[in-house]
Amino acid sequence: MCGIVGYIGNRNAIPILIDGLKRLEYRGYDSAGLAFFNDDKITLTKSKGQIKELERKISDTWRSKVGIAHTRWATHGEPSEVNAHPHTDCSDKIFVCHNGIIENYKALKEVLIRRGHKFKSETDTEVLAHLIEENLRYKPELAIAKSLKLIKGTYGIVVFFSDYPDRIIAARNSSPLVIGMGDNENFIVSDASAILGRTKNVVYMNDGEMAVLTKDNAKLFSYRGGSASSVNILKRAEKLDFNVQDIQKSGYPHFMLKEIFEQPESLTNSLRGRLIKKEGNVKLGGLENIKERLKSIDRLIITGCGTAYLAGSIGKLMIEELSGIPCEVGLASELRYLPNVDYRQNLAMVAISQSGETADTLAALRRFKEKNILTLGIVNVVGSTVARETDAGVYNHVGPEIGVASTKAFTSQVIILAILAIFLGRERGFLSAGKAKKIIVEIEKLPMLIKRVFGKKNKIKLIAKKYKNYNNFLYIGRKYNFPTALEGALKLKEVSYIHAEGCGAGEMKHGPIAMIDENFPIIAIAPEDSVYDKMASNMEEIKARRGKIIAITTEGNKKIKHIADDWLYIPKTL
Ligand code: F6R
Repeated sequence: MCGIVGYIGNRNAIPILIDGLKRLEYRGYDSAGLAFFNDDKITLTKSKGQIKELERKISDTWRSKVGIAHTRWATHGEPSEVNAHPHTDCSDKIFVCHNGIIENYKALKEVLIRRGHKFKSETDTEVLAHLIEENLRYKPELAIAKSLKLIKGTYGIVVFFSDYPDRIIAARNSSPLVIGMGDNENFIVSDASAILGRTKNVVYMNDGEMAVLTKDNAKLFSYRGGSASSVNILKRAEKLDFNVQDIQKSGYPHFMLKEIFEQPESLTNSLRGRLIKKEGNVKLGGLENIKERLKSIDRLIITGCGTAYLAGSIGKLMIEELSGIPCEVGLASELRYLPNVDYRQNLAMVAISQSGETADTLAALRRFKEKNILTLGIVNVVGSTVARETDAGVYNHVGPEIGVASTKAFTSQVIILAILAIFLGRERGFLSAGKAKKIIVEIEKLPMLIKRVFGKKNKIKLIAKKYKNYNNFLYIGRKYNFPTALEGALKLKEVSYIHAEGCGAGEMKHGPIAMIDENFPIIAIAPEDSVYDKMASNMEEIKARRGKIIAITTEGNKKIKHIADDWLYIPKTL
């Protein structure tokens, strides 16, 4: 995923830009570049590969007080120096960094080439630099606004003009941008981690907004059709709620492992102040204002993408069981195409997103908002777009998830959905205080139980080593552990590049069992719960086909030794 950093102020911009790019490295990238103003001209430096390659090209003697920088993750055109951002117009006077995708770039490029523009790269972004060049008879802000009118797609852009070195201009549509406001200096970044330790005062830009940053000022406009109306930026300023330590590896070899081991603490943070054990109830401050409306809803729809969607799938089961409210879960990438269904019922939707910026989740959310449906968010990043655009919501408070593959955010999403289920069940009189109390007691134990699972890390490593050369894996589970199986398969694909599928164990006999042989290990999520006997039958079927079984089951389950090849015990809980 791409990253953007811009700086204007009194300090040397170059180390600030490079340091900002390094903070965004965790998002993945294949090339990087920067442009800065010095001695009446802009210097542009790019390189393929890591940021240290870019650093090698930078002289210690270079000084600048303004510049923009970018890390690119190739979408249009291979990773290369020429395709790295910033991109320029024909006269090398306009410099553009862009996150997002310009969907109609091919048509625009053809028109621009016919008008004599010379393109250097294969990227969609370069179109923007040439479009702005076409409009340069206007002042820079208007030239950008007029160009963006022609764009279809998503963008967070920063633009820098050699003729106007006193400013950086940024605009946003569906790709996050954050303004950092310091003393006589301003920053523009795609992710607040890039400015941690430099300023805590931030403004999250909205779609359709343009920002003009000068050394001692930051202005925000809503631009529509080329005209602009100003926004009071000071009223929108927020305080960043995390620190530099939160984005360091603290001795772990990589962030994903660190975040897995953070879960006892991150779950404690998600639960802090929210459980009222004595009363068998929960307190969700973010839902106070809509408590009455929630009492009367007849139906809930949960949405999200990837892991967030799978957390939602577990949430659906908990909400139905504990609150009695019929609940559906839908992939945001599909729900965004919701037809004009006539919702007679009193409906609410819950959008789940760690980042709060996922384009499909936002599109689905907006589709429901258009229909005046009550929208709630379960979001980790404070002040993100989903958080701002929902009517109410609950924050995860798990700190930044830098590992990209969701781990601590997933468990937090599930636990927030569990307490949301209790909240709804209690508010509607469906769930007794006694039963809620029993669940709360078990929830409180979870951080400690997770620590117990960490005690098995050596056994987990041994199993991983034993099976690492297999090319295919199947994860199976039933009921609450059907989504868990899907999530397990998603994680294995994403971080190991090994083919993996998740399947409802009850579906095995309807087709998937045909794949099973001794080369196809199965991970069976089979705690001793209400569906354990059925899971045991599924494991027997697999064994009969000589499939290898790695079972995850409850501590004390001795029978597992007769079915599974390997097993991992997890503590018993509700
Ligand atoms: C998988 C993973 C993704 C995200 C998905 C949604 O490990 O991390 O599937 O869960 O891209 O992201 P958010 O939650 O930021 O909307």
